[in-house]
Amino acid sequence: MSTTLDSSLRHGAATDLDLGRMVEAERVHRRVFVDSDVFELEMDRIFGRSWIYVGHESQIPNPGDYFTTQVGRQPVVMTRHADGTIHVLENRCPHKGAIVCPERSGHTKRLVCMYHGWSFEADGSLAGVPVRSGYDNTCFDPTNRANGMKRLPRVENYRGFVFASLVADGPDLKTWAGEGMRGFDSVVDRAPEGQIEIVGDCFRTVQNSNWKIFIDNMSDGMHTSFVHYQTARAAKRTLEKFKIEHAGGLQVATLLAGEPDQMAKTDLVAHPNGHFDMAAFAPEPKGTDAEKYKAEMIARHGEAGAQAILGRNFHNAMLFPTALMQPSLQQLRVIRPLAVDKTLLEIWVFRLKGAPDSFTSRAITAANIGNSPSNLVAADDFEAYYRVHAGLKGPESDWVRLSREANRDIPVGSSLKGSSGNSEVCMRNMYQAWSQYMSVQ
Ligand code: FES
Ligand SMILES: [Fe+2]
Repeated sequence: MSTTLDSSLRHGAATDLDLGRMVEAERVHRRVFVDSDVFELEMDRIFGRSWIYVGHESQIPNPGDYFTTQVGRQPVVMTRHADGTIHVLENRCPHKGAIVCPERSGHTKRLVCMYHGWSFEADGSLAGVPVRSGYDNTCFDPTNRANGMKRLPRVENYRGFVFASLVADGPDLKTWAGEGMRGFDSVVDRAPEGQIEIVGDCFRTVQNSNWKIFIDNMSDGMHTSFVHYQTARAAKRTLEKFKIEHAGGLQVATLLAGEPDQMAKTDLVAHPNGHFDMAAFAPEPKGTDAEKYKAEMIARHGEAGAQAILGRNFHNAMLFPTALMQPSLQQLRVIRPLAVDKTLLEIWVFRLKGAPDSFTSRAITAANIGNSPSNLVAADDFEAYYRVHAGLKGPESDWVRLSREANRDIPVGSSLKGSSGNSEVCMRNMYQAWSQYMSVQ
């Protein structure tokens, strides 16, 4: 890369020509993270087209239940209709565009807009317009049920997880996700009854950094020995001093992620379309409940079947760009970019149906320790993300390097395995996919 090319990328509005030059095999230009023009294009070309995670069906168990969130820039509401079907609607009134459901979730017989009282069924159809006669001899028909809240053009329910896309065309969810569905499959397969449900509401945190800096970190085995060193050391000392033993070691392992060399042994696998996974490193739970759980899984799936499910475990399984599943922690983190330098994270905890209650308690404890707004671990990550974003705002920063263990990747089918858990293979793969998404006008 010549100096001339470097400096020509430095200024001005991002163009398609620039986008094509911002990602190389081993480096990514700083504008990918801090340029608001690039962010706007991402909202169109990635979040405006891809399959975006909306929510889990257990959040709306009964007809009339709803949950609001966003798909890219579009506010949406996921609803359960009277016939039990799930819908994802644009959360805007077809009259003047007002948000119809301002709450994060709720239950109602009909969705009613507070501005002029138009009402809608849970499938979006128009139910009523006050003072209907005002529309006589106009181009608007208030009796036409199709004049209601718009449904998103594509919605799919994968084993209870609801995804939507803002465009009608494109590959179906399973084809596009491919191996990226591993994490979703794993967490559902781990439930003895083959079903999971959300526990309570989600934690929400806002990071003052670009959304990709967070995803980048999710396959970064190397940072743990530095960013989490102090937390890990304090946890280890406390455990030794008080001879504390946690059933399953889950909480302990979360805190001890900073042990040197531990992460290097962890498998990292990058998949097509930017998805990736990192193998679990927390020890399996032990104790009476764990034994009971294992026996239940064997009873339902046989020895080999249970082993196949339990032997396949991930710490992080990323379905680019929104859903980061943590099957071993029974958690899902959902990425909702708010602005180029602001990223909302939803943290959801699951109950595995048929598993002992202590599994749910352990998952909640792990969420409190590792993912909640007041957690001990991610607070240090957030500081690192903020520093990365702040550093990249400087025009002289230019390039982010991704060379660690490049050219040593191991092909596995259409995926790439890193040569160790310290590899930057998943990041390189993710930015290549980003570049492809962004190149389609
Ligand atoms: S904006 Fe919704 S009823 Fe007028
Ligand atoms: Fe971290």
